Amino acid sequence: MPPLPTSILGRTGLNVTKLGYGAMELRGVDHFPRLSQAQASAILNGVLDGGINYIDTSPDYGYSEQIIGEQLAHRRAEYYLASKCGCPIEDPEVPHEQRKPHDFSRANVRAGVEQSLRRMRTDYLDVVQFHVSPARSTLEQEDSVAELLALKDEGKVRFIGMSGTIPELADHIAMGCFDVFQIPYSLVEREHEALIHQAAMAGAGIVIRGGVSRGVMVKDESVIDEYPPFLQPAFRARRQRWQTTNIDDLLDGASPMEFMLRFTISNPDMSTTIVGTANPAHLAANVAVAQKGPLPADVYAEACRRFPVD
Ligand SMILES: NC(=O)c1ccc[n+]([C@@H]2O[C@H](COP(=O)([O-])OP(=O)(O)OC[C@H]3O[C@@H](n4cnc5c(N)ncnc54)[C@H](OP(=O)(O)O)[C@@H]3O)[C@@H](O)[C@H]2O)c1
Repeated sequence: MPPLPTSILGRTGLNVTKLGYGAMELRGVDHFPRLSQAQASAILNGVLDGGINYIDTSPDYGYSEQIIGEQLAHRRAEYYLASKCGCPIEDPEVPHEQRKPHDFSRANVRAGVEQSLRRMRTDYLDVVQFHVSPARSTLEQEDSVAELLALKDEGKVRFIGMSGTIPELADHIAMGCFDVFQIPYSLVEREHEALIHQAAMAGAGIVIRGGVSRGVMVKDESVIDEYPPFLQPAFRARRQRWQTTNIDDLLDGASPMEFMLRFTISNPDMSTTIVGTANPAHLAANVAVAQKGPLPADVYAEACRRFPVD
């Protein structure tokens, strides 16, 4: 099996596989099915056995952190572990719409990181990102970054990051304190591309989420109904964009999922893309695709031309 291509996660210096793993699908609440021990073991050990070395999760993802702790604590040296902060401290069973709001106070940032350490049975997190793109003014009012830096001094956190989106992302980059940015991006969602480049030029590592656009190009349209209503219009628009743009001549035998994933991996500013799946066959397919590396430069350029940034 050829190794997965890697890149350096910006100024962290971590050598990460360009295909990472997003652990949100392990949630086990809302519309995400609860995995058995055997299913959880198969997918997470499959991630590491497939050569992936970067795992992203969040206290907001139901049972995800606990499952990572249960299944992978004994293999901790084999992966970089990223989670989020500012999330409410809640029982994993609480459904998404009933959770308390995010809280970026120093006390809640610390409580969340310490909960993540306990849940994932580890002494340190490689990356902790502020979740849900809080405004710079909120972070400054709460002095939230200082708490992550204190946790870094204590050795509980190695690098700090931001899960950021428009319109706050430009401010986050200007703050100059973040080692890593997690940003949505794909062939059908290129809105953040210029800011991704700006963050990378400033020396940050770039973690892409949504790199296969949640599979909306290949899944039945009804899956979109399972998402919270505020997310549905964007998913429908991306699916429609895919369906109304002809790229048959560019596919060269690739499936839509393969083309989407290789497109994301082709972005020169990307360090890793954290694709989520609870399905071992999908994981294996994604690993095989990532092993092929980026698209040929001319195909990438033509795909960019056909899916222009709005
Ligand atoms: N605000 C934030 O910070 C934030 C928000 C959202 C997500 N995230 C992070 O980003 C990660 C990625 O999540 P995302 O929402 O961006 O989704 P994504 O990775 O674009 O897509 C995940 C979806 O794609 C499907 N999929 C994956 N590989 C497939 C394949 N080979 N064939 C068919 N379907 C496939 C999965 O379904 P199957 O299970 O059926 O394979 C899953 O439903 C999350 O796990 C999480 O870590 C962060």
